[in-house]
Amino acid sequence: MSSFGRMFRISTFGESHCRSVGVVVDGVPPRMALSADDIQVQLDRRRPGGNKLGTERNEADQVQVLSGIENGLTLGTPIGLMVNNKDQRPGDYGSMSQVPRPSHADYTYQMKYGIHASSGGGRSSARETIGRVAAGAIAEKYLLEQYGIEIVAWVSSVGDYDTDNVDMDTISRAEVDANDIRCPDVEAAEKMTAEIVAARAAKDSVGGVVSCVCRNLPAGLGEPVFDRLEAMLAHAMLSLPATKGFEIGSGFSGARMRGSVHNDPFVKKGERLGTTTNFSGGVQGGISNGEPVYFRVAFKPPATIGQAQKTVDFDGNDVELAAKGRHDPCVVPRAIPIVETMTALVLADLVMLQKMRE
Ligand SMILES: Cc1cc2nc3c(=O)[nH]c(=O)nc-3n(C[C@H](O)[C@H](O)[C@H](O)COP(=O)(O)O)c2cc1C
Repeated sequence: MSSFGRMFRISTFGESHCRSVGVVVDGVPPRMALSADDIQVQLDRRRPGGNKLGTERNEADQVQVLSGIENGLTLGTPIGLMVNNKDQRPGDYGSMSQVPRPSHADYTYQMKYGIHASSGGGRSSARETIGRVAAGAIAEKYLLEQYGIEIVAWVSSVGDYDTDNVDMDTISRAEVDANDIRCPDVEAAEKMTAEIVAARAAKDSVGGVVSCVCRNLPAGLGEPVFDRLEAMLAHAMLSLPATKGFEIGSGFSGARMRGSVHNDPFVKKGERLGTTTNFSGGVQGGISNGEPVYFRVAFKPPATIGQAQKTVDFDGNDVELAAKGRHDPCVVPRAIPIVETMTALVLADLVMLQKMRE
């Protein structure tokens, strides 16, 4: 469905080539200072058309505030946010409307609804994430102002090139944005950039991984048993288009370790207990323990490629498809604000649920 969250609840709307995309955000506390500029910052980071690593579709993605904010303060009522689609070119998809793109969502949407948007992926397009990013920017502001919670994501791999060389205790968004690829390890960033440029030149695409850290989280967030913190993060991340995997803390590498190495021993850290290592990724029993929460999200190579592929049309006739249109050769640089804001939506909801117990 198109709604997410309970206390901090969003409902997104819109398709890739319709008039507008947007979101209704319910549960934002009243009397919070909030402007369109606060929301625009993350939309600008998500926006296409910025550089050679992303799609050539050029959208300003200027947010319009429809409701819920007056004189710079939230009213506690639903906040309506909208962005107009401007650079649509449905004509690019003419020949493709009869052919379901391999590994895109055309076939499954047609099977589910008996109809599918004729161009641009419709609702399955990453244009839909604009609503999430706009709503998540509000959640981030709330979390930072009320709890000092910081969320920072970066590109940790593209194709075969990756980096472990990022300090999760200090990494900042400014450091991440220092290059177009959004990888703070300069050496790795150069190789990743070359890989995307090469994929684009070959009319192909390439996958990658986004890492994310959340700092200053209080202990106690997460609602066992079904809404454990890691389960909510996994739900949020795997609801993003093109995601193929989610790992928290030691992740799959933890399965190869012994307990004597993997356990995170407790120590006194000021007024609370902390741990000397953090293989748990800041979550134990589905509840935050006060250590940084960190996780990774795997994104596949985008499905729409200019290279000719043998496939069949909706009637089963053999065809060769060389996709037209403007497409991202790799989604991870643009996925950074999307991962951060989805994380904020999960945390704001869990913070509010925990506050009900106080
Ligand atoms: C930021 C971002 C940009 C994307 N850009 C494209 C694109 O240009 N071309 C494409 O085929 N898929 C793109 N995708 C992925 C598709 O939306 C997605 O693969 C498709 O909806 C099918 O869903 P699935 O891959 O989750 O099965 C993008 C995803 C994200 C997160």
